Amino acid sequence: MDGPAPGGDAYAAGFVTDRPDHTQLGDLLELEVGPVAAGGGCVARAPDGRVVFVRHALPGERVRALVTDATASFLRADAVTVLQGSPDRVEPPCPHAGPGRCGGCDYQHVSGSAQRRLKAFRVAEQLSRLAGVTWSAEVEAVPGDTEGLAWRSRVRLAVDRDGRTGFRRHRSHRVEPVDACPVAAPAVAATGVIGARWPGAAEIEVATGMGTGGAVVSVRPRGRGRLEMPEVGARTGLVVGGTVCRPPGSVDALVRGRVYRVSAGVFWQVHLGAAAALLDAVLALAEPATGDDVADLYAGAGLFAVPLAEAVGTTGSVLAVERDRRACADARHNGKGLRALRVLEISVTPELVTRGIGRPRLLVLDPARQGAGTAVMRALAAHAPTLDRLVYVSCDPASFGRDARVLLDAGWELAVLRAFDIFPMTEHVELVALLRPPR
Ligand SMILES: C[S@@+](CC[C@H](N)C(=O)[O-])C[C@H]1O[C@@H](n2cnc3c(N)ncnc32)[C@H](O)[C@@H]1O
Repeated sequence: MDGPAPGGDAYAAGFVTDRPDHTQLGDLLELEVGPVAAGGGCVARAPDGRVVFVRHALPGERVRALVTDATASFLRADAVTVLQGSPDRVEPPCPHAGPGRCGGCDYQHVSGSAQRRLKAFRVAEQLSRLAGVTWSAEVEAVPGDTEGLAWRSRVRLAVDRDGRTGFRRHRSHRVEPVDACPVAAPAVAATGVIGARWPGAAEIEVATGMGTGGAVVSVRPRGRGRLEMPEVGARTGLVVGGTVCRPPGSVDALVRGRVYRVSAGVFWQVHLGAAAALLDAVLALAEPATGDDVADLYAGAGLFAVPLAEAVGTTGSVLAVERDRRACADARHNGKGLRALRVLEISVTPELVTRGIGRPRLLVLDPARQGAGTAVMRALAAHAPTLDRLVYVSCDPASFGRDARVLLDAGWELAVLRAFDIFPMTEHVELVALLRPPR
């Protein structure tokens, strides 16, 4: 065991008889499963009236579920027996998926098309609730996706006290040891990291090149103890505690004919097809033209900023704003020779947006999961008189809904919203939106 599960461990507690009057951890409940909910599960109602968030289930199913967490207002449970299954249910392709097992995936038991329907339902629900927007469209599969498997170009592994690699169980510190992961790309498996023994390591991140080969393995040691490392594949760099011990300390990603350098620890899209799909979507909505002034906020290694700088030519400008030093260095490297590109290493704040990004005609925004926040969005809204369009890329429909609401309340229009399934087998979904200021 690698630490206690939050709220206790129903699997350790074992199964006890159903007590409908006062449900508690470890109880088994028979549930009619309702709509999909946040957290990778669905909503049901316990006999005592509390809401139950039930994982490993599907809307419309009847299941027997083990209560894994009990609070005064709601319960969490795992469907352990399917009494009446959904037509969308499939046999999980991964042997480590299932109740009490690996927490890396949410939807291994759901067909690919049904996964995208569940995500579309969630996006529509959150946009309606948080932004007052009616949206009904499809979540698009990433071109080249192979049934939601073999897509992860980057994998973060936990390491247990015996040095075994694995993934954390859902809402738990415990590690499910694995020696293969079917959602990882073949290049990840080729490093030999998964399934090898890593005594003294706490966490390992494997980042592989996209279309160019090569990989970097970043190891976070466990305390000050002795770290033993197995052989990793040829052309695989090794970074320990942030220091490059064996080059390369970066990978190359080939996207639409351009090679991007991405250093260890720098953000990059995980799905093998995501960078190209999102770049295409952003460029199609942004419609950059020669001479445009552009700001790309939360720019990372320059996935969008670099092609935008090429598109605006020598008479335009692209300001890429990013707070991570290594990401800025990568963005400058990736945009070498493009006179329009300027990379600013600084945090995006309301003050910066008000006074430090000039008066762009086009804004691209791709914040982290928590979104840009109300204050930054208000500052962006004030650019309306000189701005033509804003393209917002988001990996969280809830924070996008809250951020978009700020612009919509100021009279902006949500002109286009696309959703992409760049995280198959999980509940996550990516949005690309075009917002236009009032005229
Ligand atoms: C979702 S990533 C997007 C990167 C890039 N657009 C891409 O697709 O590769 C978000 C980036 O924002 C950066 N970031 C997060 N918070 C920030 C802030 N307050 N100011 C500036 N950059 C920030 C992170 O370091 C990360 O590189």
